[in-house]
Amino acid sequence: MPDVPDVSFARDILPMFTSVDVAHMRNMMDLSNRESVFAHASAIYAAVLNGSMPPPSSGEARWSAEMCATFKRWADSGGPP
Ligand code: HEM
Repeated sequence: MPDVPDVSFARDILPMFTSVDVAHMRNMMDLSNRESVFAHASAIYAAVLNGSMPPPSSGEARWSAEMCATFKRWADSGGPP
């Protein structure tokens, strides 16, 4: 039986990015695209973990510890779709 990844981009990661996040970051990376997010995963993780992204000035809530951990688990698992 093949291993079923327990974290998925479509189900777990994509919903954590708002349309505002995607729009504001589009000139640097595509937060709606698995390949783009995986390519920038360590920088994204650092930014959400330290609270610099999304910027507090955007009015968006800082990512919870659980959201950060889910993102890291996804990246560490090879970024399953
Ligand atoms: C590699 C990681 C990232 C880098 C280098 C980065 C860099 C930047 C820069 C330079 C800006 C414009 C200046 C500023 O408003 O501070 C910006 C804006 C923004 N970023 Fe990021 N960002 C990253 C990841 C993210 C992530 C993961 C999110 C969401 C979870 C995010 C959400 C936003 C939002 C919402 C804005 C607009 C803020 C506003 O205008 O009020 N960014 N980012």
